[in-house]
Amino acid sequence: MSPYALIAAVLAALAASPALAADGKAIYAAKGCQACHGENGAKPIAGSPVLAGQSPVYLLRQMNEIASGVRSSNPVKVMKPVIDKTSPDDRIALADWLATQKPADPQSGNKAKADQGAELFDEKGCIGCHGPDGTKPLSPDYPYLAGQRKDYLMVQIKAIRDEIRSTRRARMMAANVRKLSDSEVEQLAEFLSQNKRK
Ligand code: HEC
Ligand code: HEC
Repeated sequence: MSPYALIAAVLAALAASPALAADGKAIYAAKGCQACHGENGAKPIAGSPVLAGQSPVYLLRQMNEIASGVRSSNPVKVMKPVIDKTSPDDRIALADWLATQKPADPQSGNKAKADQGAELFDEKGCIGCHGPDGTKPLSPDYPYLAGQRKDYLMVQIKAIRDEIRSTRRARMMAANVRKLSDSEVEQLAEFLSQNKRK
């Protein structure tokens, strides 16, 4: 290898990893994700989830499942055309970059309902997979829940309960949510949205 080729190879290798995270930011801007998920994925509009600080493995799998139509509940249809314009490599860069962003601040809400939600979270065994207060997923393939938007959490828990979001992974928790009433779902969402990410 000539010295110039060697230098070029070294430079390319150096650029590779930081460029990936930077690409994620650029792709996020270029594809218009910000319109719904907000600046750096931390300030979503109503109905859209916080993505900042989410596990990269989970994020990547969701994007791929939304693109392939495996996750196809009604609200997600709005972003299907957007994710369809990303390549598999774009999604890896997006997941890696979003995961390094500062999670959203906890939301204010109804304290009494949040306290009831805290009890349910233990009783129903949610803690086993999502960790104390939804802050420590058991696997990188499971989502953080603490600090997520309340409206989004309610829609998802109901969608998993009612088998609308019925992916292989979502079915793992079907038994835990099957008997939840709508008001219990709200209590859980109050609790989780008010929790601070550690
Ligand atoms: C038009 C609004 C809109 C745009 C633009 C959009 N999304 Fe979404 N996104 C949503 C909504 C709404 C949901 C939740 C759908 C549901 O309830 O299932 C979602 C869900 C997600 C999820 C799943 C999160 C989780 O916690 O399971 C990921 C990841 C995601 N979006 C990434 C992106 C990326 C990356 C882009 C840009 C390429 C993007 N979205 C563009 C509205 C949008
Ligand atoms: C056996 C493990 C397990 C248990 C127990 C469990 N979950 Fe989950 N949960 C998961 C997995 C895995 C996913 C990701 C599903 C997917 O990929 O579609 C998930 C997804 C979620 C989501 C959607 C998050 C998002 O960003 O879209 C919410 C909300 C949720 N769980 C709440 C709960 C609540 C509340 C309980 C208790 C009533 C619970 N989970 C019990 C494993 C579990």
